[in-house]
Amino acid sequence: MFALFCLCCWSLIGVFGDSLSVMEGDSVTLYTDLTEIHEEDILWKYGAETSLIAEISRAAEIFSTSDGTDGRFRNRLKLDVQTGSLTITNITTEHAGVYQLEISGAKLTTKTFNVSVYARLPTLNITRDCSSSSSSSSSSSNCSLVCSAVNVSHVTLSWYKGNSLLSSISVSDLSISLSLPLEVEYQDKNTYSCVLNNPISNQTQHLDITQLCHTCADQGLPLLYIVLISAGSLLIVAVVVMGYICRRCGKTVQTHRAASALCKPTTRTKMVSEQMWVPTVITFSMEQIKRTV
Ligand SMILES: *[C@@H]1O[C@H](CO)[C@@H](O)[C@H](O)[C@H]1NC(C)=O
Ligand SMILES: *[C@@H]1O[C@H](CO)[C@@H](O)[C@H](O)[C@H]1NC(C)=O
Ligand SMILES: *[C@@H]1O[C@H](CO)[C@@H](O)[C@H](O)[C@H]1NC(C)=O
Ligand SMILES: *[C@@H]1O[C@H](CO)[C@@H](O)[C@H](O)[C@H]1NC(C)=O
Ligand SMILES: *[C@@H]1O[C@H](CO)[C@@H](O)[C@H](O)[C@H]1NC(C)=O
Repeated sequence: MFALFCLCCWSLIGVFGDSLSVMEGDSVTLYTDLTEIHEEDILWKYGAETSLIAEISRAAEIFSTSDGTDGRFRNRLKLDVQTGSLTITNITTEHAGVYQLEISGAKLTTKTFNVSVYARLPTLNITRDCSSSSSSSSSSSNCSLVCSAVNVSHVTLSWYKGNSLLSSISVSDLSISLSLPLEVEYQDKNTYSCVLNNPISNQTQHLDITQLCHTCADQGLPLLYIVLISAGSLLIVAVVVMGYICRRCGKTVQTHRAASALCKPTTRTKMVSEQMWVPTVITFSMEQIKRTV
């Protein structure tokens, strides 16, 4: 009796249910396991609200699919006229969930399908982390790298050295960008790979140390020099111009015997001629700077 009771319970909670994991963009067929429909009526329902999405009734001459209450199944459902199996074409994450099949003939049979849809994995990107290498370990023999994946959910990102796992990071339902650092020595001859995987697929990117670890010195240092030289030049120009203006100002003030150190309105005509001189001064000092550099 107890065994029978348990069997009953099992069938109620869906022992006959299937779990399917598919990739976004796939076509998924949910099978009725009938070879041919005779007298049976077939209902396909979706989601917690079990809304009717497809129906076959020989007696009432019904053979139809629906777009779903919010239209998410529009142009995506195909119903097999012979077996009643339902195909969802070009599936996306919004079609994930529980599908329920009801076959009512001589007896009522129900079957549930739990469909999980995983997004396609983006390609991985391994880059050198120039910021950390130029500041802390430029004198060491180490190279800092970062492996990153944009817009991912339900994935794990890992670094492998040969076949052994070095580090990993996981994200569940949020769609975010993940990145995972790695520090290697320039002379390292091991094979490193960055692996991104979700429950049904994975993506691997192998690390090429000789190619990646020599790009920072070529890019980082000249950029730093350019910034320093620009800042220096600006400072020198500013000092020269300020000095020139102050000297002229001082002279004017002296000639006019004004009390204030600032130029007075009486010196306006002189100021105009000074402003015309300023560009000449800048050009001259820039050339000097260039020559010096
Ligand atoms: C699949 O669905 C996506 C999103 O709805 C759409 O952008 C794409 O064009 C569809 N692909 C095909 C082959 O129908
Ligand atoms: C469907 O499958 C997913 C992943 O295996 C699971 O997390 C979820 O609880 C299942 N839902 C039902 C209603 O069984
Ligand atoms: C990331 O996903 C969001 C929405 O899911 C989208 O708007 C954005 O364009 C995506 N970015 C990239 C780089 O794929
Ligand atoms: C260089 O990297 C190795 C691992 O590859 C690490 O053990 C070592 O501590 C690092 N050295 C420095 C100076 O960061
Ligand atoms: C990646 O997927 C392949 C099959 O596509 C499998 O053989 C391999 O073990 C997977 N690797 C990892 C690290 O999950």
